[in-house]
Amino acid sequence: MADDKADVLLIGPAMPLIVDGISRAFTLHKFWEAPDKDKLVVELAPRLKAMAGGGGGHAAVTGEFLSKFPKLEIFSSFGVGYDHIDAKWCGEHGVIVTNTPDVLTEEVADTALGLLLCTVREFPQAERYLRAGKWLGGNYPLTASLRERKAGIVGLGRIGKAIAKRMEAFGLSVAYHNRNKQADASYKYYPSVLELARDVDILMVVTPGGAATKNLINAQVLEALGPNGILINIGRGSAVDEPALIKALKEKKIYSAGLDVFADEPRVPKELIEMENIVLFPHLGSASVHTRQAMGQLVVDNLLAWKAGKPPLTPVPETPYPSKKK
Ligand code: 8YV
Repeated sequence: MADDKADVLLIGPAMPLIVDGISRAFTLHKFWEAPDKDKLVVELAPRLKAMAGGGGGHAAVTGEFLSKFPKLEIFSSFGVGYDHIDAKWCGEHGVIVTNTPDVLTEEVADTALGLLLCTVREFPQAERYLRAGKWLGGNYPLTASLRERKAGIVGLGRIGKAIAKRMEAFGLSVAYHNRNKQADASYKYYPSVLELARDVDILMVVTPGGAATKNLINAQVLEALGPNGILINIGRGSAVDEPALIKALKEKKIYSAGLDVFADEPRVPKELIEMENIVLFPHLGSASVHTRQAMGQLVVDNLLAWKAGKPPLTPVPETPYPSKKK
């Protein structure tokens, strides 16, 4: 069990709910605000057992950094995706990593459908048209449609399934690609993403990031999706070969794209920003007050469970509990 008011190192800026929640039960150290980070590491290294930090788009948390803290037991991460943390290293070194699954599933699925509709029906562009006073000069041009489209979901985890349910409600036919066939899903399964792209005209990417999915959506997959194809990415930017996507859009190899995530957030390639026919969101999949508070609370609750000597609420599969350190 952890000592009373054990130290917690918070790696990057976090919402007040997290800062306050940690401060109430622990001694909080804000790494990003430390005037001398090396000095803070040296000071904390002999005793630090817990860290917390942000999710996708945040600085990498490497094994090299974590190894500076030999007593580390837990990293409580904000976000369902944890590709920025070397979870394999953590598993091997007895450090539990927790994330914030489930509480954001419905929000991200809502955003995915919103992004899909915006991309197909050009709602953001049409709104810009009205605001620019162009409606006075004539109606906004007719757009593409969701009708008679086939959707392929890449990554049928919890969020993928929530998206599939919504797509069915919209009358879309749904198929999917995943590392493994999902026993509880009746949608058509494709062992290859390329085969899936050939058979559908909407590709909804919901994969986690990391080496296993890097550039999974490459030039060949985009070509297979075809000139009527719509690519939506709500998972991780690294899963899409961004230069290949830019090229495919420029050459009209696919029809359009809706992106909530990018390879190097918050930097978005100029070429994408300049394309009027695609839709770009600033990584807002889970970004409602309601959902971000639930995620923040889970970050705190995982640390409180650890403090009480209880099992973590939401450990990631690479770091099973009890860890080697227990
Ligand atoms: C997070 C996300 O809120 O949960 C994730 O993996 O991508 C987002 O919805 C974001 O990464 C937090 O910084």
